[in-house]
Amino acid sequence: MYDIDLIREDFPVLKDVIYFDNGATTQTPIQAVRVMEDYFFKYAANHGRGAHRLARYTTEHYENARETVAGFLNAPVENTIFTRNTTESINIVAQGLSWEKGDHVITTLVEHHSNLLPWMRLREQGVEMTIVEPDETGTVDPAKIEEAITDKTKLIAVTHVSNVFGSVMDVKSICKLAKEREILSVIDGAQSAGHMPVDFEKIGCDFFAAPGHKALLGPQGTGILCMKDPYLVKPLNIGGGAVTSVTASGYELDNAPSRFEAGTPNIPGVIGLGRAVEYVQELGVENIEAHEKNLAKKAAKGLASIEGIDVYGPEDRAPVVPFNLNGMHPHDVALILDETRRICVRSGYHCAMPGILHMGLEGTVRASFGPYNTSEEVDVFIETMEEVTRLV
Ligand SMILES: Cc1ncc(COP(=O)(O)O)c(C=O)c1O
Repeated sequence: MYDIDLIREDFPVLKDVIYFDNGATTQTPIQAVRVMEDYFFKYAANHGRGAHRLARYTTEHYENARETVAGFLNAPVENTIFTRNTTESINIVAQGLSWEKGDHVITTLVEHHSNLLPWMRLREQGVEMTIVEPDETGTVDPAKIEEAITDKTKLIAVTHVSNVFGSVMDVKSICKLAKEREILSVIDGAQSAGHMPVDFEKIGCDFFAAPGHKALLGPQGTGILCMKDPYLVKPLNIGGGAVTSVTASGYELDNAPSRFEAGTPNIPGVIGLGRAVEYVQELGVENIEAHEKNLAKKAAKGLASIEGIDVYGPEDRAPVVPFNLNGMHPHDVALILDETRRICVRSGYHCAMPGILHMGLEGTVRASFGPYNTSEEVDVFIETMEEVTRLV
């Protein structure tokens, strides 16, 4: 059963604020914080190095977290690596693949900068780029992607869910048409993993990038990259922990995942992430999806019924609700919401400037929901927005 009161006890900060900035980062449950505390107080050591007991415990916990996360996303364990965040995961792919002048990349205008700039930078190497436009709800039609494919297209990079509009892309169809033409596909799962069931194998992508610190409820500084064939990618960093042998004349990289995790990783963060993902599994990702969708639907409907407010995005949306109040800057709306009722929302371009500008906007206010938000909180939010409207 989805017992929201019990769930909220696991996130103490929710007694103080209405936290609707889950699209940026989420709160972490006590259970995940406790296992990080255990790491520090009971067995902290380095991962994969050393025969002593603490090193063994650390390695075991870290690798258990990998199994949990890979299992949750239905990705091969050995091809699932831990990173700092989604941005790093995408950069690993963009910089690790080998590119030739004239190679072509397709992406979209609704991408977060993290799934745009790594590909844009490849222009410096002579890579060409097509940026496909979304419709007025921020949704990209796979047919438009298909139209953009040329015989030089090497890769298609698309977000699963837009962090600006809450629109959900048909990533399965996009990956299918990529695969049929031997084109690589990258899915940015920053706004999907943990909000909805995600199955790496079923999506059929070559790379799936996700944050640990958003809907998977892990700590900040954790990210994930699942790869179909990790040997297509040259690791970004090499050094300790990434090799099997080193002599004065050279080195041999270890297999995946170790070759991608040189240096001391964020061990406590990864262990905390593993427990956080178990927590998401305990709640049931389908239950989370249904709960958050209801909140988003209610919020969008409530906001749209207020005169002077425009709500963007599709009706059937992921838990992201962007809006504007005519006559007031998004930052001012966000500040007032915080100052008056301690409601935390995001405002501005949401690191997705091209998509916002394309819609003719100069920013939005964004309410984004998590598994611990309540219908009553949405009521307070709508009431407050009604009051804010009177200030214009
Ligand atoms: C769609 C999307 N992609 C990428 C990112 C970047 O994620 P991270 O902060 O984990 O690098 C975000 C963050 O908001 C996002 O919403």
